[in-house]
Amino acid sequence: MNRHMVPEGAYPAIIGGERIFTQQNIDVIDPATGKVFATVARCGQAEVDQAVAAARAAFKKSWRLSTAAERARLLGSFAQAITDNSDQLAALESRDTGKPLRQARVDVQFAARYFEYYSNMVEAVFGSVIPAGTDRLTFTLREAYGVTGHIIPWNYPLGIACRTLAPALAAGNCCVLKPAEQAPLSSVRIAELALEAGFPAGVLNVVPGYGAEAGAALSGHPGIDHISFTGSVPIGRKIAEAAAGNLIPAALELGGKSPNIVLADADLDLATPVVAQAILQNAGQTCSAGARLLVHRDVHDELVARLKAIFARTTIGAGSADPDLGPVISAVQHQRIGELIDIGRGEAELVHGGNRPAGAQYEAGYFFEPTLFDQVAPEATIAQREIFGPVLTVTPFGDLDEAVEIANGTDYGLVAGVWTRNIGRANWLLRELHCGQVMINTFSNGVELPFGGRKKSGYGVEKGFDALLAFTHVKGAVVMMGKD
Ligand code: NAI
Ligand code: MG
Repeated sequence: MNRHMVPEGAYPAIIGGERIFTQQNIDVIDPATGKVFATVARCGQAEVDQAVAAARAAFKKSWRLSTAAERARLLGSFAQAITDNSDQLAALESRDTGKPLRQARVDVQFAARYFEYYSNMVEAVFGSVIPAGTDRLTFTLREAYGVTGHIIPWNYPLGIACRTLAPALAAGNCCVLKPAEQAPLSSVRIAELALEAGFPAGVLNVVPGYGAEAGAALSGHPGIDHISFTGSVPIGRKIAEAAAGNLIPAALELGGKSPNIVLADADLDLATPVVAQAILQNAGQTCSAGARLLVHRDVHDELVARLKAIFARTTIGAGSADPDLGPVISAVQHQRIGELIDIGRGEAELVHGGNRPAGAQYEAGYFFEPTLFDQVAPEATIAQREIFGPVLTVTPFGDLDEAVEIANGTDYGLVAGVWTRNIGRANWLLRELHCGQVMINTFSNGVELPFGGRKKSGYGVEKGFDALLAFTHVKGAVVMMGKD
């Protein structure tokens, strides 16, 4: 279809460098109003087949033969294109997900940074020569897998898309991306920008659609060589089963119930705003949210009072109005969070929030007050289940052994925050915590730091140099050589 004939607000799939419109579309909803503001292509098996074929063709024809230097230049141009379009991308992401505009701006910076980072790094990926004998050359090659599938969620669509695509593309793979039906627009937009930045057609394809349709078609496709997934545990299990069926590697990032552990000697001025932000950012819909506060009894009352004050002055509104806290993504998630809060009312002390905020402007959208539960038993439902909303549970502890037992006492193991001035205690906790990443006196992690869960938080690694290597396959080679 001619680009100029596209109705306002209809977003296509991007397959083989073309904008592809489907017969049926999916309504795209603004979570601040519950109203439809755009539509997106509803891809199924046929479009996924086309996208995988386009990726395979691009891999064979161009991308497999490209040099690391060529890919580095393109990735760099793409990073620049994202930065050049940051206002538009941030507005789109904020509208689609409901997140406050300034948080969407940070997501755009991260998106560009992933491409910059792997652009800088890709020329440093190579095999090695192994000293196995002077009569032979024994060495390894680092090769791309081929076609990689990427299924992402709705909480950080732009950030997570770029987190998984940048190392895959840098390593020389061609990608098929399936964004979440709740927030697909930035994925379509970046695929258009990738083409404008000079990526060959078919190197990056985007197939919007429902999980059970486009998602299942992609994860079970015999034409993909690797699958990356970020989302829920039950769907992660399905992805792993589909990958097992095709005997391909999978990388799964499945969220968590991550603790912030505040010791008695912590700098509370430093810790308090970060502990609050770790659960309020993106309305708590963050895989690595600091959803459980474990606090030493000696500083418990003080810290809870400070957090309550922050929660009470948190501004709530549509993402575009740039409040502290936007709506959650959907009616389904809003209801799920409400049900868990109701369970919490019977399990713990509700210190703040717990409801939809009062006011006409909050009635149609999916808003929740920032919610604080105190005296939460470690085994309580709200301390065990991922709520994925602006809900912080507080559990006091007496000594470090108890803190570790509580911290490790969930099915998940994604990240942990530790707040102390004592480096010995920090080091001891770092070793004892069963998770993928530990942040000491901070709760932020750049693109450089490897990220990946233990237990039901999944497996595989994202970010950092390790993620780039994870998108390559090692081929061993030996060449026997006589003197003549
Ligand atoms: P989900 O796991 O259903 O969705 C994630 C992605 O998987 C979406 O793109 C979806 O379309 C796709 N998908 C769904 N069914 C599929 C299937 N059968 N085959 C292939 N792909 C499929 O997550 P959902 O239902 O949106 O959220 C539910 C809960 O999951 C949240 O409350 C939260 O606890 C957790 N979650 C964790 C995330 C994380 O960052 N780790 C992100 C999103 C959700
Ligand atoms: Mg939306």
